[in-house]
Amino acid sequence: MTDETKVGKPAAQLWTREGFGGPLSVVTRPTYGPDYLSVEGKHAPRRSVLNRMTPRDNDDVDALPSVVASSKLGVRVLVSGRRKPMPFVVRNAEADEIHFVQTGTVRFDTDVGSLTAEEGDFVCIPRAVAYRFGPVGESMRSVIIESPSAISLTPPAPFGMINFARDVKYAEINADIPAGGPTRLILKTADDEQTVYLMPHDPLAVSGRMAGNAPVWKLNLTKIQVLTYLPDGGPPSPFLSSTNGELLMFNLSARITNRPPVHINADFDEMVCYVRGPGAWGGCTEAGTLTWVPKGVVHHGPSENVPEGYLAWLIETRATLRWTPEAIATSELMETGQYGPHPSLRK
Ligand SMILES: [Fe+2]
Repeated sequence: MTDETKVGKPAAQLWTREGFGGPLSVVTRPTYGPDYLSVEGKHAPRRSVLNRMTPRDNDDVDALPSVVASSKLGVRVLVSGRRKPMPFVVRNAEADEIHFVQTGTVRFDTDVGSLTAEEGDFVCIPRAVAYRFGPVGESMRSVIIESPSAISLTPPAPFGMINFARDVKYAEINADIPAGGPTRLILKTADDEQTVYLMPHDPLAVSGRMAGNAPVWKLNLTKIQVLTYLPDGGPPSPFLSSTNGELLMFNLSARITNRPPVHINADFDEMVCYVRGPGAWGGCTEAGTLTWVPKGVVHHGPSENVPEGYLAWLIETRATLRWTPEAIATSELMETGQYGPHPSLRK
């Protein structure tokens, strides 16, 4: 497969199960599979740029992050853009959360310890850990992935892909959080029905650790090695997965590889966050571009072989995502060749 796939020139098109890990069928076609003229309905590829979205918590200090997409399986994607720390505490009763910090420095206090996350950090807050976060400076922007089943770091090459001892940082006890006075504690559930407890104290006040490890950790995207199988590259490998396999997460940054084939992913929705350059990833040039190809949609995808380098991550989920009206309003239809705006928008 080369980058020169054009209409009129027979090109391979794959149908694959389990990402590229299961049964597959390859045919050649005289046409370019990703082309479509128009689409009506919800199951259509979209793209958005994070700094064009205004999350609810950007202007309303009492708001929770805005939901970008939700699903029947409970996997959700949210975006946060706080300018002040949360004046309340949240405990997600139904999902593990991964917060990816796109911009800013973010302080997380949790009921098992605290950490400060920088740009490019993934922060894991498992189900039922209470937390509060906010920017250390003026502002921040993060993408939050919620997974109902437990997520963990599961690199296929544990001694090379992630240096656990060096790069995975765990929350540390911060005994300076005062016991405080009455604090609102929001029990967060995927139905968005908030249950608010009024606590007589700050539930994040902690005195010390007696046993066990802090389940809250951070890891920077730049510390996760990309895997490639020379000379052709092959599919990327997930560094993180959920217990029941409904969610996989990959470093999709630049690597030496051939361009992916035109393919159809039978089992997973694919959402990529192009974090930043210097190089462009196909039609994605703006830092913080979120792209979504729903399962069953023919796509090609830009080449990852970008000598100038770029940073990106990918989630694959068995959940069928549905964008919220709020997110649809700040996004656009996407073509699935290079992941730029769909040609029908150029009018
Ligand atoms: Fe794909």
